Amino acid sequence: MDHFQLRDGVLHCEDVALPEIAAAVGTPVYVYSTATMQRHARVFREAVTGAGPDPLVAFAVKANPNAAVLATLAAEGLGGDVVSIGEYRRAVAAGIRPDSILFAGVGKTAPEMAEALGGGLCQLNLESIEEAEMLSAVASGLGVEAPVAFRINPDVEAGSHAKISTGASYNKFGIALDTAPAAYDHARRLPGLKVQGVAVHIGSQITDLAPLEAAFRKLGGLIADLRGAGHVITHADLGGGLGVPYRRDLPAPPAPDAYGAMVAGVVKDWDLRLIFEPGRMIVANAGVLLSRVIRVKPGLPDPFVIVDAGMNDLMRPALYDAHHEIDPVRPTAETMSANVVGPVCETGDTFATGRAMGRVGADDLVVFRTAGAYAATMASTYNSRPLTAEVIVRGGQWAVVRERQDLDALIGADRLPPWLQAE
Ligand code: LLP
Repeated sequence: MDHFQLRDGVLHCEDVALPEIAAAVGTPVYVYSTATMQRHARVFREAVTGAGPDPLVAFAVKANPNAAVLATLAAEGLGGDVVSIGEYRRAVAAGIRPDSILFAGVGKTAPEMAEALGGGLCQLNLESIEEAEMLSAVASGLGVEAPVAFRINPDVEAGSHAKISTGASYNKFGIALDTAPAAYDHARRLPGLKVQGVAVHIGSQITDLAPLEAAFRKLGGLIADLRGAGHVITHADLGGGLGVPYRRDLPAPPAPDAYGAMVAGVVKDWDLRLIFEPGRMIVANAGVLLSRVIRVKPGLPDPFVIVDAGMNDLMRPALYDAHHEIDPVRPTAETMSANVVGPVCETGDTFATGRAMGRVGADDLVVFRTAGAYAATMASTYNSRPLTAEVIVRGGQWAVVRERQDLDALIGADRLPPWLQAE
């Protein structure tokens, strides 16, 4: 459920009419609903609370690292799943408690490890023995023990888009299940590590619980084996990955309560603290990209609706063939079949082909729905287009939470080498 609804024929975010934001801030602009984020955080936490006491729900910061989004979720008691020291700093600055932060990622560097250990965290998820050795050396140098889990690659196909599946043996993530017992034995002997957990994450936008359940069952077997070998396993990080409804014409993916019930069934004898890393599920439907139609150009067979948002602002369609519903902000009874494209000079700058949608013309506003996750944060300045502004709404209030990048600042960040500078 989200809080982008029609009122008197005009699309609103909570109590704010979207044309008001477009008029004040310009377009394209991302608009986030506080109420939707709060609702999703609560629904998810309630759904997994039955699976074990005091679960840690750590928002995957990569999905939307905006400071206002993180502060909203921190106020809901969420922790943070971070994959770089930049995300770590953002999480802490937004009020996420360090002892509720997970540090994941295949390429953590020694300076990143040192800074996160200095600031404190719940757990570092290791992706190789080589990384374990580096972390042990860093932690020993600081005179601390790093709380760790290994991320296990369970060799399960997530059934999602290939570019966002992570749990198959040929993916770069984690260590293979059959090598895990030896990795844990090795890590136990490293002086800077406190081995405490296991972790798994098999992919994103997963719309079937079966591969998740298969991965969790494999993890359960490993926990039993590790305990049999004398390891003390107190934490299990089950990752993120739950899909969200992007398309109206497809059945909705499993809801959080179905996911929570599945987890509860798998983990009933695990006797440890569960950690979850949801990203998309919390924020995707809490955001839209608000854009204005520049013009409509005839095309065969359908017209091209050229909007002022481009693939640089919302990359998911170009990168993953992702579908975002596109709706007029002031819909009429008329519909059209359209190719919705951006102004960027690439054929890939296409949001929809032959899309049945509400009729729009030049100067009309449209929204790209489900644009709160992996959207603004994946933007680029391709074609020298400034990074988009972001706005958050709460009830009848709204505020700019990221200024539109200044075009002169974008251009002015370049430097000429001495030999090209004018005398
Ligand atoms: N934990 C780990 C270790 C992850 O790698 C991810 C996402 C998550 C949690 C959060 O997954 P979620 O609950 O959001 O599915 N840019 C792509 C998605 C990339 C996901 C990367 N990892 C997209 O736009 O679809």
